Amino acid sequence: MKRAATIGLWTLAALLPAARASDTSHGADLYRQHCAGCHGGDGRPVMPGAPDFSRPTSLLKPDLTLLGAVRAGRGAMPAYQGLLRDRDILDIVAHLRTFR
Ligand code: HEC
Repeated sequence: MKRAATIGLWTLAALLPAARASDTSHGADLYRQHCAGCHGGDGRPVMPGAPDFSRPTSLLKPDLTLLGAVRAGRGAMPAYQGLLRDRDILDIVAHLRTFR
């Protein structure tokens, strides 16, 4: 009984891509490709006006709020909707949280 329930849970987890854990190493690759030019390899901004992700106060917003900002673009930052999938952006956000 217990074993069947466990297998059921694994099947459910496999069917729900949104429920998977963020992949920070995939996020790091995408970050280097798309974001580091302005935000810097270590989160210290290269472009003036970009937030400093190495500071503990820079990422207090929830993941979904940051996802929305990256999707829609902000100020000098281009919109990534259509370029990156939401789950890719969430992997990048998980990577951003490793800078602190
Ligand atoms: C062309 C330069 C540029 C690129 C490329 C860029 N950004 Fe930004 N980003 C900025 C600037 C400038 C801001 C500050 C915008 C403002 O507040 O006016 C910003 C702000 C942000 C914020 C803060 C949003 C908030 O609501 O506090 C996040 C998170 C972010 N960028 C993530 C990313 C990610 C992830 C990528 C790559 C997918 C990326 N950025 C690519 C320039 C860039």
